Amino acid sequence: MSELIVAMDFADPGDLLACAGELKGTVTWCKVGLEAFVLAGPDLVHKLEQLGFQVFLDLKFYDIPNTVAAAVRSACRTGARLLTIHTQGGEAMCRAAMAAAREAGEKRPLIFGVTVLTSFGEGQMPGIAQSPQDFAQFLARSASSWGLDGVVCSGLEAPAIKADTSLLALCPGIRPKGAAANDQARVVTPAMAVQAGADFLVVGRPITRAADPAAAARAILEEMAGASRI
Ligand code: C5P
Repeated sequence: MSELIVAMDFADPGDLLACAGELKGTVTWCKVGLEAFVLAGPDLVHKLEQLGFQVFLDLKFYDIPNTVAAAVRSACRTGARLLTIHTQGGEAMCRAAMAAAREAGEKRPLIFGVTVLTSFGEGQMPGIAQSPQDFAQFLARSASSWGLDGVVCSGLEAPAIKADTSLLALCPGIRPKGAAANDQARVVTPAMAVQAGADFLVVGRPITRAADPAAAARAILEEMAGASRI
């Protein structure tokens, strides 16, 4: 079953918690990213947990292995259930992140590696000649051999990655039919993402900037429920 995660991208923690209050009971997962975490920190994660959400802390760590391991240890203490690192940080960094997460025991968060950001189109990645699809698949194979739990990829790459590895796939760049793409380049609809095998769909602005966020979330959940994996 695919899960919906709402990306709560707000600078003001008050706005974020107001949106969370509207979505409580409709959605179980939410994402806290850099914009909110830099200002409001672990306290915000605790408040979301108290509201009943499972929190995906999307800080996309990329640094030397020792620093990333230390950051993962700190992130585990927030109670977040899912964390991100960049697979481009390489084998030593990814293995250090996994080892640090395992120290948290059975209740450790899942660690997902970002492959190619969904905002990158063909030819836009600095120094990378491969297509985003091919590069994402290459990075996912590496992530699999380094023991990560899953990868962040677009719904366009998910089928090949799921066929090739046993990784979980978390897909941003989701846009219901007719919604604005904003800065996303490699987008798919909620139904396409489910059919592509996405385990988690991350949706931000189409829900958080809707006149009625709970109704927008319900529509996406219905579209997901009506689609089945191919
Ligand atoms: O508003 P929108 O639906 O575009 O939000 C997508 C969310 O997913 C954002 O919070 C963004 O940071 C995140 N994300 C992404 N692409 C990635 C990884 C995360 O868009 N590769």
